[in-house]
Amino acid sequence: MTDLTTKYLGLTLRSPLVASSSPLCDSVENISRLEDHGIAAVVLPSLFEEQLELESASVDHDLARGAESFAEALSFLPDMQTYNLGPDRYLELIRRAKERVDIPVIASLNGVTAGGWTEYARLMQQAGADAVELNVYAITTDPLRTGEDVENGQCALVSGIRRSLRIPMAVKLSPFISAPANMGLRLDQAGADALVLFNRFYQPDFNIDDREVVATLSLSRPEELLMRLHWTAILHGRVRADLGITGGVHSAQDVVKCVMAGARVAFMASALLKNGVRHASQVLADLGSWLEAHEFASIAEMCGSMSRDAVSDASAYERGNYMKVLSSYTLKSGAFDD
Ligand SMILES: Cc1cc2nc3c(=O)[nH]c(=O)nc-3n(C[C@H](O)[C@H](O)[C@H](O)COP(=O)(O)O)c2cc1C
Repeated sequence: MTDLTTKYLGLTLRSPLVASSSPLCDSVENISRLEDHGIAAVVLPSLFEEQLELESASVDHDLARGAESFAEALSFLPDMQTYNLGPDRYLELIRRAKERVDIPVIASLNGVTAGGWTEYARLMQQAGADAVELNVYAITTDPLRTGEDVENGQCALVSGIRRSLRIPMAVKLSPFISAPANMGLRLDQAGADALVLFNRFYQPDFNIDDREVVATLSLSRPEELLMRLHWTAILHGRVRADLGITGGVHSAQDVVKCVMAGARVAFMASALLKNGVRHASQVLADLGSWLEAHEFASIAEMCGSMSRDAVSDASAYERGNYMKVLSSYTLKSGAFDD
């Protein structure tokens, strides 16, 4: 009998397939259905720093009356109250989900600056969350701000929240940094119990006729997984924190790749949004069959078997391979045909 269990954030999960933070996990009914389809844990949609700051600004406003900036702030975040319930109902969702399901419930905070909003992690803990995932989604538009400064801020944020929590904390980070391996290590040292690779940025498009910047949200494609596999394979064995992969996990084969790279869990959102939550059952059935057919007794046995330290040729993950792959490309006949 193949053992699909895995350990993540000190929790024993029945498989490595976890529902990533998205509206799929925004109600107890949905979470329960995800559990029925074999999902091993859920990450709730994020509560945003801006929402929490707004909430405390609202209290101040009620006390002080008349701060014009409050109306401005409200119009800046028009959809936030509908996206993830808002702070109070969020805590209620944690409580009710914990009563209803047996799988771990991971709360999610999304923000980058140190501030009062981080106190919310403790309220999530009090409400019964099994862990907190902190999404450090920064878009640093100030050209005078250095990468080092941004990274120092994120590490300080992580260690600040870590100190105030008993439950484990994962950090979901960006791939757009000069030295992801070093940042992984720094976050690990700052107290992250897991690193989730990587945030997927929602990049604006242009409407060239109306000359407007258009917010877009496209679901992921499986090719996006490759960058995550690469950095997970590099980080595996170098950090104490567990590794998890989000971005481009669509099939059982993708989950196998994540685990072989060194991830304890593979997060899924787009594939479930696209195919419906029953897709999870199929992925898990395929995963079990794959392990059996390839004579792996357990997920643990497979974990990290393709990491940089485990493969016979570590240069596969380095610059040499990049040169090899470029020089091996053969131009198709016809490329210069008119
Ligand atoms: C509609 C939607 C809403 C999302 N909301 C959040 C969120 O609130 N917090 C967060 O950390 N990630 C959020 N994500 C990102 C997902 O958790 C996930 O990291 C990303 O979609 C990549 O995984 P995938 O390829 O399986 O979709 C959202 C994704 C989608 C599609």
